[in-house]
This record gives sequence, structure tokens and C-alpha cells, in this order.
Amino acid sequence: MRRSSNREYSGRELQQDSLVEARSTVFERDVAVTGSEEIDPMIPAVEFRNVSFSYDDKTVLNDLSFKLEQGEIKIILSGSGGGKSTILKLILGLLKPDKGQIFIDGEDIAPLDEDELQRARDKMGMVFQEGALFDSLSVYENVAFRLQEHEVPEKEIEEEVRSLLKFVKLEDAVDKLPSELSGGMRKRLSIARALVGNPKIVLFDEPTVALDPPTSGTICDLIIELRDLENVSSIVVTHEMDVVKYLTSEYVSVDEKGKLRFREDRQNLCLTNTNILMLRRGREIFSGTGTELIESEDPYIREFIRGTEMLPEDHETENQ
Ligand SMILES: Nc1ncnc2c1ncn2[C@@H]1O[C@H](COP(=O)(O)OP(=O)(O)O)[C@@H](O)[C@H]1O
Ligand SMILES: [Mg+2]
Repeated sequence: MRRSSNREYSGRELQQDSLVEARSTVFERDVAVTGSEEIDPMIPAVEFRNVSFSYDDKTVLNDLSFKLEQGEIKIILSGSGGGKSTILKLILGLLKPDKGQIFIDGEDIAPLDEDELQRARDKMGMVFQEGALFDSLSVYENVAFRLQEHEVPEKEIEEEVRSLLKFVKLEDAVDKLPSELSGGMRKRLSIARALVGNPKIVLFDEPTVALDPPTSGTICDLIIELRDLENVSSIVVTHEMDVVKYLTSEYVSVDEKGKLRFREDRQNLCLTNTNILMLRRGREIFSGTGTELIESEDPYIREFIRGTEMLPEDHETENQ
């Protein structure tokens, strides 16, 4: 996932120019159309308080508490079957906890009726692991779909779709079908779709799985831009250590000429706005920065850091 050559870097800079412009267009339009809801930086974007959840008699989450602060990335790590996707479904209100409470921007979502839940969901964008793209619709139509459902005027839809496709660098693929795209392009399309309506909370379920390292890097860059330039709060579910390193050590800012500047320091995995939560058997076994993760003496964590993938939970013996 390393980017090294200067040529590549200046290529990125060129593309970034249009990115800033693209995102600011979305911003202006959204503020004008929907008004911007004030966000209190002291209230977590998402909070789990002593949440337990089981499918029938299988306990998936056991007394889990964590906070996703405003503008933060929370990376959630576990082996497969560790409950990561379940956490995202609980946040979206698609599942309800057996015990405990879940707060979105300080609001307990348990008592909400379906309309109120939908209002909470509108603040969120979800990038599904499988993409959840409509195979018979074009790239443009996939992004436009939700806006058309809400009967937004066609001119506004076009403006938003084009700016989002520019942000994910798919503006040259508007008329293609998902089947004509590479894995990385499909993932970027899923991200564009999740960003419709300018959500302040974005949930990424294994966004880089099955992508080669450079492609995975471009996805991480988009996640970093949302964090550093848009103050989006994100949860990134993954089991890849490369992604952890990338997101905890790279940041982006806009220089005086309006160009994006990515900086990375792989020796220091300790950006304060990017934290890791690691689960095992439904419980938290680690919470902290990337550096703290790397320095952990816990044998299970050390095993994870050495390998690129974690053991599926089902492959472990119960009394390990
Ligand atoms: N709808 C379901 N019904 C029953 N068990 C489920 C269901 N969805 C997931 N599970 C089980 O719950 C556990 C956690 O699943 P999941 O949250 O998808 O894990 P992860 O995303 O970390 O791989 C797994 O053992 C999985 O088999
Ligand atoms: Mg999953």
C-alpha cells in the first residue's frame, strides 16, 4: 500500500484540485437545501453503552461500550464472525440490542419509531461490504437512485451526482454498468452512493477487502479526506493491518494554493482522531492508538499484527 514515486504523487495533486471543488459544491448545495444541523463537538457521533446482542442463543456482543467522537475514525478489528457487521446493523437500527443503549448524536435510538429511525439513518451513509449496487443501473443511476426516490429536482440530482462521482474519481464512467467496472471502481461507486445527502456519519464495512494494495490505498485516501476535510465521523470495519497503519498515520490538509497535501508518517501510528477498537468473543480486548496496538503484549494481538489476516473466531477453541 505504499505510494512512492514523485510522478504518482503529482498525479494525485492534480486530481485533488477537482476534489476540493467537487466536495465544496456538495456542501453549499446541501446547506442551502436542507440547512445544516448544528453538531455539538462534545457529543459523540455514536455511543454504545453496555450493549449485548445475540442471534438466538449465539452471543455476538457482550457488554460492549465505545464512543465514536465527532470527526473521528474508529477502526473496528476482529476475526471473521466477530460481530463487526452486526455492530453496523445495530447503529443503523436494523437490529436492536438485547441489553444496553445506542446513541446517535446523543439520541437514544431504542424508543424511536420507524419514521424517527429513518431521520437518524439519514445522517448516516453505509458502504456495504458487497457493494449493494444495482447491476442493471448505470453508475450515474446508482448514485441518483435515492435522490430520485425523494423526488429531488433533476437538475439538483445531476449536480450532486456529478460532484460525488468527481470526488471518487468516476466522472469518466457515468454511463458504465457496475459489471464493467474494476473492483476498486465498484467500491468507489459504493462510497459515492453512501455520501448522497452529505451524511456526517459514514460506516464502512470491510471497504478494502479483496482489493490490491494501491487500490486499497485510494479507498483509504477517500476515508482520510472525509475525516480531515469534511469532519465526517467514520467507523471502518476491517481485519487488515495495512489499513490500520494507513488510517492512523496519514493525514491531509489543503495548502495555500488550494491543493490537497497528503502526509504520512508510518513510524508514528498515533493520529489522535483515529482510534482502534478490537473485539474478541464479543468483548473489547483493546482500545487505543495504532502505536499502542503495535506495542501490545497480548499474544492474540501480537498474532494479529504478525499476520495480515485474523483467524476466524469459529476456528478457535472455546477455552483458548
Ligand atoms: N442473521 C443471522 N442469524 C444468525 N446468526 C448470524 C446472523 N448474522 C450473523 N450471524 C452470526 O453472528 C456472528 C457475527 O457475525 P458478523 O457480525 O457478520 O461478523 P463479522 O462481520 O465480524 O464477520 C457470526 O458467528 C455469524 O455467523
Ligand atoms: Mg462482516
